[in-house]
Amino acid sequence: MIVGSTVLIMTAQAGSIDPLSSFETIAAQRRSSLRVDPDNAVPDELIDRLIAIAATAPNHKRTFPWRFRIITGDARADLGNALAQDLIEASQPATKVDKARSKYLRAPVMIAVGSRAGDDATMSAENRDAVSAAIQTLLLGATAAGLASYWSTGAAMTSTRLREFCRFDETDTVVGLLYLGWPIGDPPAIERPQPESLRIGSSTQNP
Ligand SMILES: Cc1cc2nc3c(=O)[nH]c(=O)nc-3n(C[C@H](O)[C@H](O)[C@H](O)COP(=O)(O)O)c2cc1C
Repeated sequence: MIVGSTVLIMTAQAGSIDPLSSFETIAAQRRSSLRVDPDNAVPDELIDRLIAIAATAPNHKRTFPWRFRIITGDARADLGNALAQDLIEASQPATKVDKARSKYLRAPVMIAVGSRAGDDATMSAENRDAVSAAIQTLLLGATAAGLASYWSTGAAMTSTRLREFCRFDETDTVVGLLYLGWPIGDPPAIERPQPESLRIGSSTQNP
């Protein structure tokens, strides 16, 4: 299968369709961006489709470890207030507390993504890997649908208040809080270094 596709790409005639190019475009278009319209709702059906797409991610031992929580409307302010309380208790400055209160209002929909614990440390780590793969799959789907997205982490990930707000279990790991919304601008361009890659073994081009 893979060899067949590769041959097709390598031998594509001018004007013929490169089967990888549309996915390549989506992957390159996916950016972390908060330049979204907070007042333009994302349809529930679209969010549900994106979550179903996310759940196609590979997961070792078929543990299906992901847990999604869709946070919209006033619940975004409730979440911000909960996390602001953490900062008040940690004696953080008022500016930081105020920012926490309003930060989730920047997008019309937030998705908290949790990972279930496994039977042992290895399974828990692999579950988390699978959830990260699911998040990226969701972000690529969002990009394909024309949405802007932003994966955030930080102190909120270990907040008991966040876990309780999301009805996650004590043993779950929170892997991200995703902002989703319709774009109102583009993020600044990003320079990506060439990824390190090394061919080990005989080259297919010089047998
Ligand atoms: C696990 C993970 C956690 C992240 N957490 C944050 C975050 O808390 N705040 C933030 O500004 N960006 C966060 N990002 C986004 C990265 O900063 C972003 O992916 C990086 O700058 C590359 O930009 P791009 O996503 O537009 O390609 C996170 C990304 C990942 C994969």
